[in-house]
Amino acid sequence: MTTLVLTLRESLRYRGAIGQWSWLLHRLSGLGVVLFIVLHVVDTSWAVFYPPLYEEAIKTYQSPLFTLGEFALVASVVYHAFNGLRVAFFDYRPQLWRHQGRAAVGVLLLSGLLLTPVFVLMFGHVLDFYNEEAFVLPLEEVIRAQLPFLGGFALAGIAALLLAGLHSLVAGRGSQTALSASSERFWWLYMRISGVLILPLVFGHLGMMHVVQGVFDISAAEHLAVGASEGQVGANATGTAVEFVHDRWSTFIGPLAIWRLYDFALLVLVVIHGFNGLRGVLWDYLHHPLAKRAALYLCLIAALVLLALGGGALVIGIDEAAIDEASRALCEIRQTHGATLEELVELGCEEFGETS
Ligand code: HEM
Ligand code: HEM
Repeated sequence: MTTLVLTLRESLRYRGAIGQWSWLLHRLSGLGVVLFIVLHVVDTSWAVFYPPLYEEAIKTYQSPLFTLGEFALVASVVYHAFNGLRVAFFDYRPQLWRHQGRAAVGVLLLSGLLLTPVFVLMFGHVLDFYNEEAFVLPLEEVIRAQLPFLGGFALAGIAALLLAGLHSLVAGRGSQTALSASSERFWWLYMRISGVLILPLVFGHLGMMHVVQGVFDISAAEHLAVGASEGQVGANATGTAVEFVHDRWSTFIGPLAIWRLYDFALLVLVVIHGFNGLRGVLWDYLHHPLAKRAALYLCLIAALVLLALGGGALVIGIDEAAIDEASRALCEIRQTHGATLEELVELGCEEFGETS
């Protein structure tokens, strides 16, 4: 804790110029994306394990609070990716270290250059949505939908502390908490290689979800779902987010379920990279052996839970019954929030008795 306070104080006082700020920005952007990925993988798994919750989650993504977060998320991913490439490149080119400062400024400029048109396109989707008098969940409900995550974080924290205590008891007080030099070398290399592999995957994913079609189009009926099941640009007949994911996950190129494989690679690379990054950050500030072990167990638990939920969802996939459940849930959400009879009929809610 004292080291954290020291870091914060010294960050403001130390005059390390651009190098210091890019280190801080890289760290903060990485941590922000780790937080998002926890919410996102758990939410996406509801499409398979509890479809009504997925409809609610996508409605929260379409709220003004998340729209602000979405702009911050895209900026964080873009900056972190370019800066990560810079870090990896210079690690292997010590003879060029005198150009580090200029390269760090270059990363900021390149990020701004890419983000400007991307933000314009994203803003276009936001305007389209609000011009059509779109349905928006009230802020209280958006916040309430995130509360179970706080419970989950607390539970994971307690489990990590218990495991760390047990570990310390078995291993003895003076036992090692640091990783061996060869393990640290492995993880150092993993961060660099995985970063390079993640870049095209995550840019592709974000391009699809924010530029080609915005977050708002995920649940738009008759809107293109990139790579629909029949192999053409398809309509999302029910207007549910579950059908959108179903269409993507049942797109085949030959025998390959292409988007499932894509999401699987993204899931594995991002989760391991993100939680090993978080472990490194926590270890910078924690020195007590119990606290260090608890941090390690916390990262392990979080990564394993996300890999199991996200991987499980990809393997099991989505069936027609899930789309029905999601349609019913969407009708309920809209009816609770005062949709007119015409709107409910347009959503096809008669069959669920939601129009009476
Ligand atoms: C898009 C491509 C990405 C690249 C090229 C990349 C690159 C890197 C590199 C090279 C490092 C090590 C930095 C160092 O040792 O000083 C790193 C650290 C980190 N990355 Fe990434 N990364 C990417 C995506 C992500 C994503 C998607 C997340 C979140 C899930 C993430 C979270 C982190 C965290 C938390 C750290 C530790 C930061 C620190 O120690 O200050 N990264 N990244
Ligand atoms: C607000 C921004 C985002 C939106 C709207 C979004 C949307 C989606 C959707 C609709 C899916 C379902 C599967 C599909 O259609 O391919 C999905 C899955 C996934 N997304 Fe995103 N995405 C966003 C940002 C991100 C970011 C920044 C990352 C990585 C750092 C990411 C990683 C993943 C992964 C790993 C999966 C697969 C999850 C699973 O296995 O259950 N997404 N995303």
